[in-house]
Amino acid sequence: MITGKTRVCGIIGDPIEHTLSPAMQNAAFTGKGLDYVYLPFRVPAGQLEKAVQGLRALDFAGVNVTIPHKVAVMPLLDEIDGLAEYIGAVNTIVNRNGVLKGYNTDAAGFYEALVAGHITIPQKKIVVLGAGGAARAIAFILADKRAKLTILNRTPGSAEAIARLIFKALRVEVKTGELTDKNLKSSLVEADILVNTTSLGMSPRTSDTPVPAALLSKDQVVVDIIYNPWQTRLLKEAGQKGSSVISGLEMLVRQGTAAFELWTGVKAPVDIMRKAVEEALKKNEE
Ligand code: ATR
Repeated sequence: MITGKTRVCGIIGDPIEHTLSPAMQNAAFTGKGLDYVYLPFRVPAGQLEKAVQGLRALDFAGVNVTIPHKVAVMPLLDEIDGLAEYIGAVNTIVNRNGVLKGYNTDAAGFYEALVAGHITIPQKKIVVLGAGGAARAIAFILADKRAKLTILNRTPGSAEAIARLIFKALRVEVKTGELTDKNLKSSLVEADILVNTTSLGMSPRTSDTPVPAALLSKDQVVVDIIYNPWQTRLLKEAGQKGSSVISGLEMLVRQGTAAFELWTGVKAPVDIMRKAVEEALKKNEE
């Protein structure tokens, strides 16, 4: 029930109709008996500044930030968390008495998904496919945890740009290359973990995959950040080889648990949130 004391959270982005976060966060608030509510707000690019001022004026507890605002929102905030600053993108804002601070729980969520899968990162050889916004967040947190990274991308220049940023910020060397079968083969032979951040395999083109099955081996943990479908062709083929796999659904849920904990200070009910996302995904598909 909404009362005069209800704290308001939400998500700002454009488009916003397909977001799964309201289902996930409201289920979590209910599960924990917290007097909070989470709403979607379509905010076109030209209205972002006013929307951020509104968060202060209306005393929101916080919001998530999604496409196209993750970078543009940064100069509008009062403080930025160190990791979000390095990554250059904010997906969560916390309002503490009118002071707005930006965080990147996409990176934290990815890391938590690995930790939950009992995967340790320091000194592991990790191949990241793709060099978009998600890859940048993931590469930063992995480099910060002292993984040995190789980034392969269709456009190798974008992978090199991320490597330069990481070196500048963390003094960690990252290898880069073009996403070709030859480069995949040579980097996967010695890799402990493979992470797909490209859109290859995402619905509706579910028969696409970034890695030919012949190049996969059971010695790698395979992580896909795609959650629709929750098990991509890449994960299915890796599973058939005997690899452990982690779906993008887990990262989606963990970025949500990290945001929930920042807003409420309460441990997030991860199983309730995962179930709510699974149900919302099913409904979106109908
Ligand atoms: P996100 O923010 O989710 O990372 P993005 O910034 O659009 O999304 O990045 C998409 C990634 O998928 C990029 O690395 C892109 O490669 P390019 O940098 O060369 O564009 C990759 N990608 C998309 N379609 C691809 C395809 N058909 N083959 C290979 N890579 C693809």
